Amino acid sequence: MAAQEDKLKDIIGHAKEYGFVFPSSEIYDGLSATYDYGQLGAELKNNIKNYWWKSMVQMNENIVGLDAAIFMAPDTWKASGHVDAFNDPLIDNKDSKKRYRADVLIEEHIEKIRAKIDKDVTKGKKKFGDDFNESEFRATNPNVLRREGEIKGIEDRMRNALNNEDLADLKSLIEDLGIACPLSGSKNWTDVKQFNLMFSTELGSVSGESAKIYLRPETAQGIFVNFLNVQKSGRMKIPFGIAQIGKAFRNEIVARQFIFRMREFEQMEMQFFVRPGEEMKWYEYWKEYRIKWHKALGFDDTAYRFHDHIKLAHYANAAADIEFNFPMGFKELEGIHSRTDFDLKQHEEHSGKKLRYFDPEINDSYIPYVVETSIGLDRMFLAVLSQSYKEETLDDGSTRKVMSIPPALAPYKVAVLPLMKKEGMPELAREIIDGLKIDFNCQYDEKDNIGKRYRRQDAIGTPFAVTVDHESLTDRTVTIRDRDTMKQERVSIADLHAIIEKKVSLRNLLS
Ligand code: GAP
Repeated sequence: MAAQEDKLKDIIGHAKEYGFVFPSSEIYDGLSATYDYGQLGAELKNNIKNYWWKSMVQMNENIVGLDAAIFMAPDTWKASGHVDAFNDPLIDNKDSKKRYRADVLIEEHIEKIRAKIDKDVTKGKKKFGDDFNESEFRATNPNVLRREGEIKGIEDRMRNALNNEDLADLKSLIEDLGIACPLSGSKNWTDVKQFNLMFSTELGSVSGESAKIYLRPETAQGIFVNFLNVQKSGRMKIPFGIAQIGKAFRNEIVARQFIFRMREFEQMEMQFFVRPGEEMKWYEYWKEYRIKWHKALGFDDTAYRFHDHIKLAHYANAAADIEFNFPMGFKELEGIHSRTDFDLKQHEEHSGKKLRYFDPEINDSYIPYVVETSIGLDRMFLAVLSQSYKEETLDDGSTRKVMSIPPALAPYKVAVLPLMKKEGMPELAREIIDGLKIDFNCQYDEKDNIGKRYRRQDAIGTPFAVTVDHESLTDRTVTIRDRDTMKQERVSIADLHAIIEKKVSLRNLLS
């Protein structure tokens, strides 16, 4: 665990040093859990957005995008249930004065039991060697079964307490499990209270309840209220989807772990409108589609797992997370939710406007059901950073820091480096950049020796470094160095575009 936390610290340090992520308003000592994306971070973020938009919108004939306002009529949030039910159960430790989410404390306790099961499995592997059958061991070993039973008991009780708003039992569960404050070790807890996560402000110069508006806590509602606008103007036929990327705001009780949990963050969401009764088919479809999108990046397959929600949100009849193995362990990266007809029905009731679809195939009109995919862009960014960041020891004993970012997402695709700052090498390097920059983000670098420059490009994840040397001036060839293998090849300048394109194209991920 300590090694993993160290890895997160290293990533945070690296992200700052090279211009991926800075603490927000740092000259004023920052603002808790708020970050700014720097020159490389902005590029990486845009590339992730582009990968998502292409895959979700442009490659699906029946999905379109929109860009709704962050501010919405306040009734939106009454209708969606966020005013009444978008709460987190919070608990304070009286000694450390630290505030926690009660459900998270319990989930962390469950994770500790899961870690014990994994230890049992590792022991079993050691004991039985090649004959070890993990699934049989998990299904029959008395220790594992006892611990699984314990987990189920805790999850059932937590689910009941959360669903019945039984905050007293949530506190009793924390006490019964002997959960201590991770900071002080104290078990001296306050009662559990509900805390609404929406930020509010006032519209114009009017003050008071009537002018209260909210910063949207999810982008989804901007899609729901535009459902008929898009359906009619785009002549969309069910099943169809509406997608958008945008900022969301939540007054999180515990905002920490770098960009994992922030109060201002960005979501990439898609609402898929389907015929009632067909939602489970589409729920399975989108789970499958989304996990493929993640795995196409080529990261470790075991870094992903599905986790069915213990407590369903007020709008859902089925929900699962795609969890990712972040440096802090497995945590939610994306949610896939079957939202039923809850949102459209609520908006119909509160607005008094019909939000129905006439389905010519069955000659009937209905409120569509919705399957949603919702991923946090900042979490995706952290997932990419944490899988890409490596410190390698090379054959000659030296070390290098390298970010093996999937080439299609890398901030710069190629660095062009004149070996010397003279004899026409800088001019040729700039000429090469001029030929590439329309299609690829290029960087020019002439400072320091060539070895240092390669290391700098490794550290920011540039897939290729092209060096212009003496030979280049006479035969128009250059060396091209691959970030991952560090191998260099001599190629013609005329071939550079095709070589780079082959490696960095989004096609590699999308096809
Ligand atoms: N419209 C559904 C919805 O908002 P959610 O599970 O609350 O569902 C979706 O959020 C995704 O948004 C999460 O899987 C996560 O990636 C991201 N997210 C949620 N809260 C966040 C926060 N405070 N900071 C960063 N990302 C967050």
